[in-house]
Formats: sequence, structure tokens, C-alpha cells
Amino acid sequence: MSTHLRTFSSRIGIACSSLLKGGGMKTLRLRSGCSQIRNFAKVSALSLTSKKRKGKKITMVTAYDYPSAVHVARAGIDLVLVGDSVAMVELGHETTQRMSVETMIHHCESVKRGLEFANSGSMLVGDMPFGTYEFEDTDVALRNAYRFVKEGGCDAVKLEGGSMARAKTARKIVDGGVAVMGHVGLTPQAISVIGGFRAQGRTAVRARALLDEALRLQDAGCFSVVLECVPANVAAAITETLEIPTIGIGAGGGTSGQVLVFHDMLGMLSHPHHEQFVPKFCKKYAQVGHAIQEGLQEFKSDVESGTFPGEDYSPYLMSEGEKEAFDVLLEEDAVERKRKHEMAAEKLSQADEYEALQLYGSNDEK
Ligand code: KIV
Repeated sequence: MSTHLRTFSSRIGIACSSLLKGGGMKTLRLRSGCSQIRNFAKVSALSLTSKKRKGKKITMVTAYDYPSAVHVARAGIDLVLVGDSVAMVELGHETTQRMSVETMIHHCESVKRGLEFANSGSMLVGDMPFGTYEFEDTDVALRNAYRFVKEGGCDAVKLEGGSMARAKTARKIVDGGVAVMGHVGLTPQAISVIGGFRAQGRTAVRARALLDEALRLQDAGCFSVVLECVPANVAAAITETLEIPTIGIGAGGGTSGQVLVFHDMLGMLSHPHHEQFVPKFCKKYAQVGHAIQEGLQEFKSDVESGTFPGEDYSPYLMSEGEKEAFDVLLEEDAVERKRKHEMAAEKLSQADEYEALQLYGSNDEK
């Protein structure tokens, strides 16, 4: 490194360390300048395991786009999951099965931009969708995992299931250099096999099998495992047995951390049809859907009554001189414009009459 460069970077170092002392930021990483300082320490597989060992709880929330990512990152959440639940809560599908790698990556990219904007240290996990990692040829899964990292900007991917075949796939991806999060219990991608969104591991034998699945994923190199919709005692036993952290959803308080779906926890979907699908285990931390509905209704009524925008929201003004000059310009061709306006009005009223005739026509046919 040249002396000039060294002096420059040490100057940045001094500036940044004083910023850190004064600014109360938790961290630390300096790549090429102050703009690279993160508001929170970069979360990694190692830091998560260390949290588990120290008994500190891990937080994970889903995000699907730029604004949700900024919100989640600013809250200092450890892991941001671009879940394939996006299919249901954002895209209106009945299940998660229709997602493709392309659509997932589209969402990952915008979440990544949100995390970068928020200077976040959160770990970004991308959910590999149904049909993109289950083949015997594990190269397919590895190729798709690379797409999540290279195109989507993800730090890790998540796979559902804990069979031997799935563990082999997880191993392949980990060996390829991509961190993998497992997911056992309720695995929504297998909905057509499971037969519904219902709790798993409720018999001793099934609970034992879940433990085996989680252990298999740990042995395959996964850095953590999601436990979805399993009895609290089962999740706690799995958590105690594993070295790696478990992240629970509908799995009680004995896991190493908790994950919730953004839309469910914030009450984004306030239509009664949707509200009935918010899972029993989900605490609602806000009623955003109601606020959105109220805002939209108020906008409609303000526009219809003429109270919006009003002077308060009409910020672009002309000087008095420009206004007068504009009036003169309007005056100059007022006659010609009036003639054109009358012709257009005539044509439009003919169109209205035509449309009225059409309507009567269709009614008559009924
Ligand atoms: O897709 C998703 O949001 C998930 C979480 C529920 C863990 O897999």
C-alpha cells in the first residue's frame, strides 16, 4: 500500500473510531470508508451459535421488499428471511408451491437494497422454493443456491425437510460454500403430502423422528434449523440436543430464537378473510392493515369532497409577475382554444349517448 493510501485510510480510521465513540453505533466493520460502517455487528453463523451458547435469544423476521427490509433492519433483527411465504402474503397464492427461483431472487434483490440502505448487519437468508433443490442430482440445488448468493445478494439459503436425501443436498450446498439453514416440523412446501397446515411431532415417535431430522441437518453442516409448529417440549428437547441454534415459529419459548412472518405479526392483512388465516401462535404487534384501510378511505373522501390537496399540499407557486405573463399568453389564443374545446365537448357528449345506448342494448338481451 502506498504511503499516501495508508495515511488516507488511517485518517478514515480515526474519523470512524471517533464516530463510533460518539455515535453509539454498536460496530465496527471498515471496508473502504465511513459509509461502510454498519449500525449493527454483522450477523454470521458463528455469532448465532455464540448467542445460543450464551443463552441470548435470536430474532428473525421475514421481509419481501425494500421498505419491509429497511424496517426490519432498523429494528436490529438478527436474521432477515425472504420466505417463500411471499407467495401467500404478497402474491395471493393459496400455498407456497408456485414460487420460482426468479421470483424469489426478484424479492431478495430488493430486500438486499433495503438492508444496504439501513447499513444493516442482519444476515439475509433466501428461501429456496419448491422444486428447486429436491432432485437426486444435487448439482441443481447447488446451482440454484449460487443464484441466491450471486444474484439475490443472500448470505445463506434455507431448505425444507430433514430426510437423508435433504441432508445430502444440504451437505452439497455447504461444501459449495453457501451457508444453509434447515427447516423441519411443518414444511409448507410439502402441503400436498402433509394434507394441511397443521402441527407436527405430536406423538412420541414423530417427535423422535423430528429430532433425528434436525440432527441430520446439523451433521450435514447447517448453521441453524427452523422448527415450525411443533409442541414446545419437543422444540425445547431438540434445541437442547443440537449444538446449532434453533429458530422457532409456533414452537414455544424453548428454542434459541423466534421467527414471525412480517404481514402476520404486524396485522398487515386486515380483511376478515385474511385475518382468519393468521396462525394461532402469532402475536400481532401492530394493526397496520387497519391503518392502511383508514388512510385509503380518508384519501378517497378528501378527494371526492375537494379537501385534498388544498393549499397545504399545493406547494409549487409562481411569482406574481410570471402569473400575469401567463394570463397574457392564455388571452392570446383564447378564442381558438374555446372553439377546439366546444368541438371536443360535442364529440364527448355523442360518445356518452352512444355508451348509454350500448348499456340499454345489453340490458335488453338479458
Ligand atoms: O416462508 C417463510 O416465511 C418461512 C418461515 C415461516 C420460517 O419459512
